[in-house]
Amino acid sequence: MANILKVLKGTKDILPQEIEMWHFIEQKADEVFSKYGFKEIRTPIIEVTELFSRGVGDTTDIVNKEMYTFEKSDRSITLRPENTAGVVRSYIENGMSRLSAPVKLWYKGPMFRYERPQAGRQRQFHQVGVEMFGIKQATADAEVILMAVNYLKALGLNDLEVELNSLGCPTCRDEFKNRLKEVLKPYFEELCEDCQNRYEKNPLRLLDCKVDSCKKIFEKPEVQEVINSDFICDECAEHYTELKLYLDRMQVKYNENKLLVRGLDYYNRTVFEIKSNNLGSQNAVCGGGRYDALVGQLGGEPTPAVGFAMGMERLISLLPEKESKKLDGYIVSNFPTDAFILAEELRKDGLNVEFDLSNKKFTKQLEKAAKVAKYAFILGEEEILKHQVSIKNLETGQQIKADRGFALKMLDF
Ligand code: HAM
Repeated sequence: MANILKVLKGTKDILPQEIEMWHFIEQKADEVFSKYGFKEIRTPIIEVTELFSRGVGDTTDIVNKEMYTFEKSDRSITLRPENTAGVVRSYIENGMSRLSAPVKLWYKGPMFRYERPQAGRQRQFHQVGVEMFGIKQATADAEVILMAVNYLKALGLNDLEVELNSLGCPTCRDEFKNRLKEVLKPYFEELCEDCQNRYEKNPLRLLDCKVDSCKKIFEKPEVQEVINSDFICDECAEHYTELKLYLDRMQVKYNENKLLVRGLDYYNRTVFEIKSNNLGSQNAVCGGGRYDALVGQLGGEPTPAVGFAMGMERLISLLPEKESKKLDGYIVSNFPTDAFILAEELRKDGLNVEFDLSNKKFTKQLEKAAKVAKYAFILGEEEILKHQVSIKNLETGQQIKADRGFALKMLDF
């Protein structure tokens, strides 16, 4: 068994026994998001690299360290690390700003980030996400968060926590960044290397640091005072208050977390995450927020927008395992041509049916039927002569004989 090729580190096969879980979360997404008027969009997995350096931000870890980028015909191309930028590109390119607002889009599919693989973190992972364009009011933020919670509930996930914060707008945030830098200056040497790098480029991201020694610095009273100060301007504060009122009215529970800053540069005002206590360190199942400047930054008419994405592998790891679906029927017969014909008849009637393709012994076929199907359709010599079929319920053991054309109608025993 030498020289067997293996799946790349940080990537996984989704095997037939797992696929029903995937279909389940995909179908629920379609069902729930459609109720809110969202339509599915499918954008390419490859995009020009500039889309992400301009869109996600070139001070982010995603753009700096994690992108799968390659050259082709003198163009720099990247496997999408997330899909907000791609959907925004498509929104602009396809003139969707001419549609009446809001434009509501949802997507599912693989994303690629060259991160250190660990439980809940892969290099190829899947997201299901939504983006809503054209509404600046907090109703849009509230609807998107409510829909995320309702989607999770539809999957059977109720005990998750919504974390909420407002990052303000570029103006009020700049003032906050300066105050943060000022208060952290005396501790600069004690900050981790990542935080030292972010100090100038993206000081807000310091708050997201998971390194214990940094966390201790953020707990210092003078730093806490800055973190907890109400830095956002009146308009941003009003937007945030409205959002919270809507969420309260819709009975969506949330915790406010001033340290929630998110790892992508495009957010302003609302940011949120939904977390599970059952996921270990990679505990965010959902991340999202408002990004009012991105459409303009990528060359479109300035358009407010808000959205979220959820990690599908993380959703699946929280769900109870599903048993694989059984076939409706398995044909047991030593007359392959007749089995073939009956299988096609039943398939045309809408049943999932298999028969033995290798002419095994009758008893072996029956054993197989019991493993894989709900009913055995038995075709012996007598049944064939009389154009009948014996149908055995493999759960109860009950067996009846029916005329071929009526077999389907007999399946309620
Ligand atoms: P994000 O927080 O980078 O946001 O990713 C969203 C979710 O994708 C995470 O909460 C997590 O569940 C999952 N995820 C991210 N990275 C990995 C990984 N390496 N392995 C497994 N799961 C992962 C975004 O991507 C934004 N585009 C969300 C958004 C949409 N904001 C506005 N609209």
